[in-house]
Amino acid sequence: MSVLTAENVSYRYKNGDRMALNGVNCAFEAGKVIAVVGPSGSGKTTLLSILAGLDRPSAGTVVLNGQDLAAKNLDQYRREDVSVIFQAFQLFPLLTVMENVCYSMELVGISQKEAKAKAGELLAKVGISEEKWKRYPANLSGGEQQRVAIARSMASGAQVLLADEPTGNLDGENSRNVVELLTKLAHEDNYCVVIVTHDPAIAEASDTVYRMADGVLTQEK
Ligand SMILES: Nc1ncnc2c1ncn2[C@@H]1O[C@H](COP(=O)(O)OP(=O)(O)OP(=O)(O)O)[C@@H](O)[C@H]1O
Ligand SMILES: [Mg+2]
Repeated sequence: MSVLTAENVSYRYKNGDRMALNGVNCAFEAGKVIAVVGPSGSGKTTLLSILAGLDRPSAGTVVLNGQDLAAKNLDQYRREDVSVIFQAFQLFPLLTVMENVCYSMELVGISQKEAKAKAGELLAKVGISEEKWKRYPANLSGGEQQRVAIARSMASGAQVLLADEPTGNLDGENSRNVVELLTKLAHEDNYCVVIVTHDPAIAEASDTVYRMADGVLTQEK
């Protein structure tokens, strides 16, 4: 069954002269890696933003586990149900690695002790060894920063991970590591992982591929 679906979703930016999304339909399943490809300016980030609950669609509906987002509080949805991973990592620079991962758990009222234990598990899972937990993000490599960002995403408990060009700032090897990690999270831990990418190798390796062109989405694979 699909975890997250868009039904005839259209979106126009307030100052936009045309639809950035035009009747988009998609159905994303748990346990799958879904790639969204397409040219610059075609609407990929816009779609991710709508799915991430950053704004409401101008028309159409987004449904999470059978529940229409229109009936949901978007702040709560963003805290609990979806998590976004960015090209530029966007870790909090003044928080340590450990604090970055604990942050979203403390937001939802998990005790500091419990959050630290869980964060340690997640950091181990993404391959960040304990001696790095007290470092600041600036003192990690790009690949490591992205893995910390993925651990932070998982910490929120969200089942849907939305990644906007997560390997765009990484070299070949780090890029492969991050994709391998995201794929493992989908296939072994049942996350629904959506990756916007320009990299044909990532699309090739994913379970499902959608292509965006001029705000119109079509499924390719
Ligand atoms: N804040 C905004 N206000 C108005 N128009 C915007 C805004 N953000 C994006 N757009 C427009 O919406 C369209 C889709 O943009 P979007 O960022 O979704 O493209 P994209 O597919 O992610 O491109 P890229 O591959 O370059 O990241 C573009 O025409 C863009 O100019
Ligand atoms: Mg984009």
